[in-house]
Amino acid sequence: MSVILKELRNIIPFINRYKWHFWGGLIFIVLSACFSMYQGKIIAQATNKINELIKQNSVENNASTFLFYLLEMVLLTMVSGFFLFLTRQTIIVMSRHIEFEQKNQLFAHYQKMHTGFFKTNTTGDLMNRLSDDIAKVRMCTGPAIMYIANTFITMFIVLIFMLNVNASLTMYVFAPLPILSVFMYVISNRINKQSQLVQEQLSVVTTHTQESFSSIRVIKAYARELFFENKMNEIGLVYRKKALKLAAIEALFGPMMVLMIGLSVLFVVWKGGTLSIEGKIKPGNITEFIFYVYKLTWPFASLGWVTSLIQRAEASQKRLNEFLKIKPDVNDDLAVINSEPSGIIKFDNVSFTYPENNLMALKNISFEIKQGQFIGITGSVGSGKSTILNLLTRAYNVNTGEIKMNNENIKHYKLHALRKYIAVIPQDIFLFSDTIKNNILFGIENKVDDFEIIEVCKLAGILNDIEQFPQKFETIIGEKGVTLSGGQKQRLSIARALIDKTKKIILIDDALSAVDTETEAHVLSGIQKISNNYTVIMVSNRYSALSKTNMVICLSEGSIIEIGTPDELMKNKEGYLFNLSSIQRS
Ligand SMILES: Nc1ncnc2c1ncn2[C@@H]1O[C@H](COP(=O)(O)OP(=O)(O)OP(=O)(O)O)[C@@H](O)[C@H]1O
Ligand SMILES: [Mg+2]
Repeated sequence: MSVILKELRNIIPFINRYKWHFWGGLIFIVLSACFSMYQGKIIAQATNKINELIKQNSVENNASTFLFYLLEMVLLTMVSGFFLFLTRQTIIVMSRHIEFEQKNQLFAHYQKMHTGFFKTNTTGDLMNRLSDDIAKVRMCTGPAIMYIANTFITMFIVLIFMLNVNASLTMYVFAPLPILSVFMYVISNRINKQSQLVQEQLSVVTTHTQESFSSIRVIKAYARELFFENKMNEIGLVYRKKALKLAAIEALFGPMMVLMIGLSVLFVVWKGGTLSIEGKIKPGNITEFIFYVYKLTWPFASLGWVTSLIQRAEASQKRLNEFLKIKPDVNDDLAVINSEPSGIIKFDNVSFTYPENNLMALKNISFEIKQGQFIGITGSVGSGKSTILNLLTRAYNVNTGEIKMNNENIKHYKLHALRKYIAVIPQDIFLFSDTIKNNILFGIENKVDDFEIIEVCKLAGILNDIEQFPQKFETIIGEKGVTLSGGQKQRLSIARALIDKTKKIILIDDALSAVDTETEAHVLSGIQKISNNYTVIMVSNRYSALSKTNMVICLSEGSIIEIGTPDELMKNKEGYLFNLSSIQRS
C-alpha cells in the first residue's frame, strides 16, 4: 500500500481542495447503505408473516398487510437511490474538478518547457499524458474512492445487521467472500494485463493507419499500396488474437461470481435452516440473510477491479510526476532587469552543443550588430545558421561565451520580454487551420486596423495572392496550410512577423528560398523600407539577397570563416561569398 501511495500522494492536495465533496460523499454512502440494508428487515418481517399465516391457516384478506410491506420497500429503495445520486454528485464531481485542474497544471507546465524537451518527447506522448493518464488518475479519485468506501461501509453495516440476528450464521455467510475477492483480484489482474496488450496493439494499428493515410501520396507514387495493406492485415490479426484472449478471460468473471454467491446462499440455507429448526432464528432471517449476501457480492467482487484501477492510476500519476518534476532548462532564474532588450546585439565567443546529440554546432562565434542593421548569415547545410537564431531567442542557452543585447546578457531579460521584441520567421513555417487574417494576427495582442494588415501584406509581397482567393483575408487555410504554395506560406509568415510594430529584431531563417528572385527583391526592398526601425538578421544562401545587407557572416561547420560588408567580402576572389555569387550568376 505504501508503494501505491508514493506517486498518488501528489493528488492529496487536490482532494484537500474538495474535502467537502469527499466527506459529503462518504456520509451519503453511509445513508444510502443504511436505507438499502434496512430492506432486509422488511423482507424478514414479510416472510415471518407468511409463516405465521400458514401456521394459522388464514390465508385470506392479507392484501393490505403485504401492500404495506411493498410500500415500505419502494420507499426505502427511493431514499437509498436518492443518497446514491448525491454520492455520485459529490465524489464523481470532485474527480471531474480534479481532472480539470490536473489538465490545466500539466498544460501550463508544458508551455514553460524548453525547446529541447519537445525534441526528446514526442507529441503523442505529451498528448497521452494529458488525456489518457489524467483520465486514469480520475478513475482513482472518482470511482475507486467511491467503490472502496462503498465496500467497507456496506460490509460494516451488513455485519452489524447480521450480528444482531445471529453470530454463527454471520460467520458462515462471510466465509466464501474473501475467496471471492481473491478470485476476482486474480481475474481482474489478468484482464488488466491482457487489456494493456490489446491497448498496445491497438495503438500499433492506429499508428499504421495514420501513417498510411498521411503519406498516401508517397505510397501511391511508389505503388506500395499492397505492402501497406498486407501489413495492416498482419497487425490486425495480432490485434484480433489478443482481443479474443481478453474476451475469454472476461467470460470467466460472471460464472465465478455466480458460483461464489451460490456457495454463500447454500451456507445460509443449510446453517440457517438448522438454526431455524432449533428455534434460534426465525425463518424470515434466512431470507434476510440471502438478501444481504446479494447486497454484499458486488462490493466484494468490485474490490479486485478497484485495486487494478488504483494500480493503473499509480502508474499514470508516476508518468505525470516524471514530467512535472522537470524544470525548464531555459528559465527566468537570472532575469534581473525590467528594461526592454534592443536591436544592439553582441555575440561574445559563443560556443554551443546540442544537448540531444552532443554535437558542437557553434564554435567561438563573435560579432556585433548595431541597431537597425540588416545582417545576412550564409553557409553550407548544417553549418549552424539556424542555431545562431535559436540562441538569440533563447530556444537554448549558450554553453560558453555570452550573447548580449544592449550590453546586457540576454539571460538577464525576462524570457517573455525578450521574445516579445523578436519576430521570428522560421525555416519550417507553421500555419494554423484558421483564416489568413487570424494567421497573420497570431502573435499580436493589441488591435490592428485592416489597412495596416493590407500594408504589411503589400510589404511581404503576398497581397496580390490573397486578393485572388474568393474569400480574401477570410480564406481558411487547411491543416498546416496545405492549400497554400511554399512561397505563399513563406510570405504569409513574413507578414505575420512584420505586423507587430513593437518588435525590435526580425529573424528570417531562409524564408525566401521558395520564391523567385523577382519576388525576393520585392520583399527585401519592403523589409529594407522599414528596417530603420528593426534590426534584421536573415539567413540566406542567395547572393542576390545577401548583397543587399550591411554585413554578411559566412559559416562553415559552426565557425565564422568570413565576416564583413558584401563589398569587402567580394574583393576576396577565393572567398565563400564570391564563390556563391559566381555560381549563382552563371
Ligand atoms: N535540435 C537539434 N538537436 C540536435 N542537433 C541539431 C539540432 N538542430 C540542429 N542540429 C545540428 O546542429 C548543426 C547545425 O544545425 P543548423 O540547423 O544550425 O544548420 P543550418 O546551417 O541552419 O542548416 P540548414 O541550411 O540545413 O538549415 C547540424 O549539424 C545539425 O544536425
Ligand atoms: Mg537552418
